[in-house]
Amino acid sequence: MKTALVTGSSGLIGSEMVAFLDERGWNVHGVDNNMRRDFFGEHGDTTWNLERLRTTTRSFEHHDVDIRDRPAIARIVAETKPELIVHAAAQPSHDLAASRPFDDFEVNAVGTLNLLEAARAHTPEAPFAFLSTNKVYGDAPNELELVELETRWDYADARYANGIDETMRIDATMHSLFGASKAAADLLVQEYGRYFGLPTVCFRGGCLTGPNHSGAELHGFLAYLARATRDGLAYRVFGYKGKQVRDNIHSYDVCTAIMAFAEAPRPAAVYNLGGGRENSISMLEAIARFEELFDRRLDWTYVEEPRRGDHICYISDLSRFRTDHPQWELTMQLDDMLRELARVSPAPVGS
Ligand SMILES: NC(=O)c1ccc[n+]([C@@H]2O[C@H](COP(=O)([O-])OP(=O)(O)OC[C@H]3O[C@@H](n4cnc5c(N)ncnc54)[C@H](O)[C@@H]3O)[C@@H](O)[C@H]2O)c1
Repeated sequence: MKTALVTGSSGLIGSEMVAFLDERGWNVHGVDNNMRRDFFGEHGDTTWNLERLRTTTRSFEHHDVDIRDRPAIARIVAETKPELIVHAAAQPSHDLAASRPFDDFEVNAVGTLNLLEAARAHTPEAPFAFLSTNKVYGDAPNELELVELETRWDYADARYANGIDETMRIDATMHSLFGASKAAADLLVQEYGRYFGLPTVCFRGGCLTGPNHSGAELHGFLAYLARATRDGLAYRVFGYKGKQVRDNIHSYDVCTAIMAFAEAPRPAAVYNLGGGRENSISMLEAIARFEELFDRRLDWTYVEEPRRGDHICYISDLSRFRTDHPQWELTMQLDDMLRELARVSPAPVGS
């Protein structure tokens, strides 16, 4: 039986990965200390998701460990010797980082280094998949010329018809502290590939979504929007006339991308990973669709000032990943994701 280590295993991506591997006969060790609750309050509590995994998996062991705890991480990796590491634990919010800069950096950058060193020492052959982010590009994508359409912004230049690729620069741009800590981690992951030869990959995510997101106002765009519409919560739209565009990928399709890499790994790989143009949606469009699905109006207000460093239009160009892993394909279309979120709806607060 093969063994995998998944960090952030009670979160959106980590929990999907645990279930995915468990179903395929892997022995899975998860590391998560429910720090999402500490970051985002009760909406961010992931206990329900851990309980769900405990009752639905066959070979899953949970470790309530902080990835900042270097000796504990080294011990887990030494003892379990995973053949695959999926690193999805993070402080994931662009906005929260400014109020908790040390926590943000220590979790995102130093926590990643702890795992990389443990992998190098104890299991250097194991594919190491890191969930990076498109925020490593900072606000450089906002320099692209845009056209304003009725409900969304779009790229004016046809060269960006498929979206933004990995050649977008990552320096001399405003990242937010979150983007900076993730960029530090992204570079470290690449370096452990280039310098030490570990089979590492950075997946620079667009919006990752799915039913197992503990959606909070500061993180988990579609999950929180679904919750706000369903529960009549006040929702704020920040800047860009509500026409900002995100591409959305389902957590299941993130798992299949990770497995495609794990089956044919190479050192220091970097891929943009999102839903691409066909799964892109603007804030106004998402609000309209959830209002339709829930058959109720969202109580939303417009805040003129955009979030600092927020993207106006971000669509991931998936060409590089598709070229390297031609068998991989997106299985979940945008409307399937929205309907799934509306149907299962996010977990009740505090459950
Ligand atoms: N969700 C998105 O839209 C998105 C977009 C781009 C990139 N990403 C990246 O994907 C990864 C997974 O995101 P997600 O949406 O699943 O986030 P999530 O918050 O749902 O999951 C992260 C998990 O990590 C855990 N965690 C946080 N700090 C920890 C620590 N110090 N020790 C142990 N566990 C800790 C949290 O409790 C949480 O369960 C993150 O690295 C994030 O930056 C996410």
